[in-house]
Amino acid sequence: MSIQSENFKTIILGADLIKAGKVISVMTETVYGLLGDAENNATIKKIFNLKKRPEINPLIVHISSISMAKKYAIFNEDALSLAKTFWPGPLTLVLKKIKKSSISPFAMSGLNTIALRIPDSRVFLEIIRKSKKPIAAPSANKSGYISSTKASHVSNSFGNKIELIIDSGQSKFGLESTILDLTKKPYKILRQGIYDKELINQKTKLNVNNNEEKINMNRPSAPGLLKKHYSPKTPIRLNAKRPQKNEVFLGFGTSTKIDCNFNLSKTANLHEAAYNLFDYLIKSDQLNKKRIAVAPIPNIGIGIAINERLSRAKGN
Ligand code: TXA
Ligand code: MG
Repeated sequence: MSIQSENFKTIILGADLIKAGKVISVMTETVYGLLGDAENNATIKKIFNLKKRPEINPLIVHISSISMAKKYAIFNEDALSLAKTFWPGPLTLVLKKIKKSSISPFAMSGLNTIALRIPDSRVFLEIIRKSKKPIAAPSANKSGYISSTKASHVSNSFGNKIELIIDSGQSKFGLESTILDLTKKPYKILRQGIYDKELINQKTKLNVNNNEEKINMNRPSAPGLLKKHYSPKTPIRLNAKRPQKNEVFLGFGTSTKIDCNFNLSKTANLHEAAYNLFDYLIKSDQLNKKRIAVAPIPNIGIGIAINERLSRAKGN
């Protein structure tokens, strides 16, 4: 494994490795992904093995254009309008798959639906274009652990088990894409990211809903929405006003007045908190304290997505 910075040469190398069936990691605007040729069964199995990911949890397939997406999924008018409005960007659409699709059935965990997105990431788009491949990419973390927003997070998780990590700095959003299920009405957001229901409805006049199912469900509608996820090894305490003995304290806004180890955003900016969240959780975990105490995060806009990640990191 080698970490190499993003440039023309590493992009060509990345595309060649994808064509050869290898697994690599590159940055997207949301988090780092673990990329492999979505049409190659052996590669897809390798991704699941590397992540220790349950086979029932399908992968998102990344493409570089809407015309490419249409080779793998059926687009109705609403899907087309969403794709035109939000792609490239942090919105994943779950659609009915084309019957005779070339995508590995393992990538879709045998479902008849497929999750697709065009990432807003130069390095990723160039690799899709140069390899001419649809690319499956889960977040580049071990299943259940915190997602990676930096190349160093990826190398800490996978060491020399992957061929190449292209370092393009830190992911600008820091939370995984919003997943919208368009396979049945009413359309539902299965996972919220930076884009929420209000923004989607305002920009498209569709009436999408939030997923009302509780997080600790036994059979979640997005197979990946398992109860415990994003979890550091260290236990978590939420809505903490101040740290207790032997706790790491992850502050927000005015917590600056208290002695905190990391402040997600000194100016109480939720975008900035999302950007820092996974990196600071990983850093906090590495301090090997008794617990990680996290300050209250306002439950509005991006705060909803942050709180959802935090409550699943705590796991209950
Ligand atoms: O921002 C992102 O979405 C990142 C970057 C790399 O694109 N990817 C990512 O992938 O977060 P992953 O594998 O960590 O999460 C994908 C989620 C899982 O919860 C999975 O269950 C869900 O997408 N998913 C995939 N296919 C699905 C389908 N057909 N129906 C419902 N959910 C699906
Ligand atoms: Mg993930």
